[in-house]
Amino acid sequence: MLLTVTPSFAAEETAAGSLSSNQFERDAKCAGCHGIIHFQWEGGMHSLAELDPFYKKEAEMASIDTDGLTDTYCARCHTPIGVVSGEFPPVDGSKLSDIAKRGVQCDFCHTVSGSAGINNAKFILTPGETKWGPFSDAESPYHLTEFSDLHTKAEFCGMCHDVNHPTNDLPLEATYTEWKEGPYSKEGVQCQDCHMTPGITQFEANPGKSASMGPKRDHIFTHYAVGGNAFITDIIGDKTHRDMAIERLQSAATLVVDAPASAEAGETVTVNVSITNSGAGHMLPTGLTNMREMWLVVIATDGDGNKFYHYGALDEKGIIDPDAVIYNTILGDADGNKTTKVWFAESIISDNRISPRETVFEEHTFTIPADAKDPVTISAKLQYRSAPQAIIDYLFDEGTYVVPVIIMAQASDSINSPDSDANTDSNKGVQTEPTTESTPGFGAFGLAGILTIIAIFVHGKRRV
Ligand code: HEC
Ligand code: HEC
Ligand code: HEC
Ligand code: HEC
Ligand code: HEC
Repeated sequence: MLLTVTPSFAAEETAAGSLSSNQFERDAKCAGCHGIIHFQWEGGMHSLAELDPFYKKEAEMASIDTDGLTDTYCARCHTPIGVVSGEFPPVDGSKLSDIAKRGVQCDFCHTVSGSAGINNAKFILTPGETKWGPFSDAESPYHLTEFSDLHTKAEFCGMCHDVNHPTNDLPLEATYTEWKEGPYSKEGVQCQDCHMTPGITQFEANPGKSASMGPKRDHIFTHYAVGGNAFITDIIGDKTHRDMAIERLQSAATLVVDAPASAEAGETVTVNVSITNSGAGHMLPTGLTNMREMWLVVIATDGDGNKFYHYGALDEKGIIDPDAVIYNTILGDADGNKTTKVWFAESIISDNRISPRETVFEEHTFTIPADAKDPVTISAKLQYRSAPQAIIDYLFDEGTYVVPVIIMAQASDSINSPDSDANTDSNKGVQTEPTTESTPGFGAFGLAGILTIIAIFVHGKRRV
């Protein structure tokens, strides 16, 4: 892929309330000719950006906490047409037209005629006859078409996928910046290459037609807008998008367990687990990372299946083992205390996420029980959850939603006693395919509990 120049930014963003929602066309209209693209978009997170109950609860809470100061700020990305048409606020959405409720939609993205820069939705809209897109030779009987370099670049996505605090400028979401500072931007790999092609971790051509009466082309960009959200897509989206989110999460990381080849029963051993961000063009995880949770589960069992080490388990309320390292960001408020409310955030207390292509290590040290049968198996799983169960239980009535836990990757290794035949030099951890099914909530791990624990010691983490 060729290195490309960053599009230039100009002028001022379209102001709130400066347009009317009836200047935009309904997505159903576009579906008439762009049926496949519409099918891909419908039920994905762009189509759900306004309806998303998790977003709505948070936006309502922000509005109450700030006396409405955050209203147009939040909604400018989640219902852009609602904001530019002045139908939002009120924050309850009671004045939103049907079109504004359709989130980030066709006639929003394709009437973007320019950008005033990265972050906080600095888009410039020119609704009307012309639809801006990636082709310089497109002809439509219904609308005019115009080539837009911006649409083919990460800077288009970066208008909304970098979110800074409205008053103190703290980066709350920095997917674009993470990409820009990482290896993929240097190689010219755009967001669109991974998120708008079947490739997931790289560009992969998708030949076909972009409109029913259009010409056959070598590549048509897909519109699923799939990230890691298997939670909201399951509740109000559809199975296609949910399953694609799981598949994407399972393409993002590589896991290796490295245990000593041999050890005696009763011995204390250290096992090294490495996690590599092998597939994501930004940090892992990215986006709203003060909510997202990614963590390891490490289980050691002996030859009879007795479990003697269990790290990263969920308790019966769905809370992650407090000793486990969670890869995410923790925000601090004005007093330096932890906060999960982005509108109160003034600092980033910690950020231990994994950069693109970076590998991190976790060390797990435990004692093999004296009566353990050969061989000892250490299995590790990398898990992802869109939000802490406790926060969803707080926002909605407890028991309303169980946030799914997705197994992103799994791997194992074994330890044999020194005199075992199975004990060879080539003892190497193996990565196995993660199961395609998500773990529904915390059932399996929560109940398992921790059996006869001989010892659970240190688990450190270091970076290379
Ligand atoms: C989040 C913004 C966004 C939304 C929403 C969106 N598109 Fe697109 N669309 C794009 C971008 C960006 C491209 C070009 C990607 C590239 O060239 O890298 C594109 C490409 C296209 C193309 C050119 C053919 C192709 O796919 O390459 C058509 C036609 C199109 N979109 C129609 C639609 C329709 C119809 C909808 C609604 C169902 C829609 N788009 C929703 C951003 C969007
Ligand atoms: C009557 C059919 C029809 C309708 C309705 C229609 N389009 Fe198109 N559109 C086309 C055709 C045909 C093309 C050219 C396809 C090609 O060359 O691959 C096209 C091309 C496009 C392109 C690519 C432009 C470029 O230069 O890259 C975009 C973007 C687009 N349409 C968006 C929309 C949106 C948004 C709507 C709804 C508001 C819509 N279209 C409604 C037929 C239609
Ligand atoms: C108008 C602002 C806007 C633009 C422009 C935009 N997005 Fe989004 N995008 C959003 C919002 C808002 C959400 C989240 C909706 C939610 O979770 O409620 C989202 C969600 C997503 C998701 C799903 C995330 C998940 O957790 O599953 C992906 C992937 C994504 N966008 C990729 C892109 C790409 C690639 C582009 C550029 C071609 C782009 N977006 C352009 C606003 C935008
Ligand atoms: C090399 C491929 C690649 C590139 C380039 C890439 N992504 Fe991703 N993206 C992924 C993979 C794989 C995931 C799933 C793992 C994860 O959630 O981080 C993902 C996840 C996401 C998510 C969901 C994050 C979450 O967990 O809530 C968003 C949003 C997103 N990407 C947006 C973008 C944007 C915007 C760009 C460009 C600035 C981009 N991506 C560039 C591969 C890529
Ligand atoms: C500049 C654009 C932008 C602004 C402003 C913005 N968001 Fe978002 N929001 C996004 C994007 C993009 C995502 C998807 C990121 C990801 O998948 O992790 C998102 C995701 C979310 C989610 C996660 C939804 C889910 O289903 O997991 C919540 C909740 C949310 N935003 C609430 C808010 C609130 C509250 C505000 C105002 C205080 C706000 N957002 C302001 C762009 C924005």
